[in-house]
Amino acid sequence: PVGAQQWVPPEPRSIDQLKSAAAGCEGCELHADATQTVFGRGAADARVVLVGEQPGDVEDQKGLPFVGPAGRLLREAVDDSGLDASDVYITNAVKHFRFERRGNRRIHQNPGPAHITACRPWLVAEFSLLKPQLVVILGATAGRALLGPSFRVTQQRGRLMPWPASAQHPEDFPVAEIQALATIHPSAVLRADNREVAYGGLVDDLKIAAAAVS
Ligand code: URA
Ligand code: SF4
Repeated sequence: PVGAQQWVPPEPRSIDQLKSAAAGCEGCELHADATQTVFGRGAADARVVLVGEQPGDVEDQKGLPFVGPAGRLLREAVDDSGLDASDVYITNAVKHFRFERRGNRRIHQNPGPAHITACRPWLVAEFSLLKPQLVVILGATAGRALLGPSFRVTQQRGRLMPWPASAQHPEDFPVAEIQALATIHPSAVLRADNREVAYGGLVDDLKIAAAAVS
């Protein structure tokens, strides 16, 4: 893929400008089958950015991140953690839904490393505009997008890390003093054998995020 860079408007720019430009992105092949680009959403002065994997089926149709079942669970967990929802911007590592058709159904497929790399300029543009205090990494795809291929949720979740110092390409993120915290993806909570325990773990991690910005 050619990557998203040529679609990213120059600075100065707003979240709305980024979102409009991303609507026309053809930086990888995922735009061809998906309904639309699903850009990040939230206040430009949000101190916390949550980064998920890619839009799901519902998000693809509605054009907004985390508005399906995983999104409902995530919003509940944000509330339960004490994080202020208006202080949170929500986005994804990859902005188009990747899926496989089986009959009438669209089956989620994980984005590959090439999609993550192709879409990274949008994430970088979001960060350089938002300058968040804390980035919450939801699951393995977002972790690999931001911290590199050796990222493991199970080992790195629930603790504050300096970032972008630990990022794979720190030069991409010209913003100082950001902290990162990784946690389980809300879809993994939905799939967990013991959903209550998994949910509690997500909320506990988000409480660490809430304490870090308060
Ligand atoms: N899962 C994600 O990672 N992002 C969404 O927007 C929805 C589900
Ligand atoms: Fe562009 Fe990202 Fe969509 Fe690929 S997934 S077309 S890079 S917005």
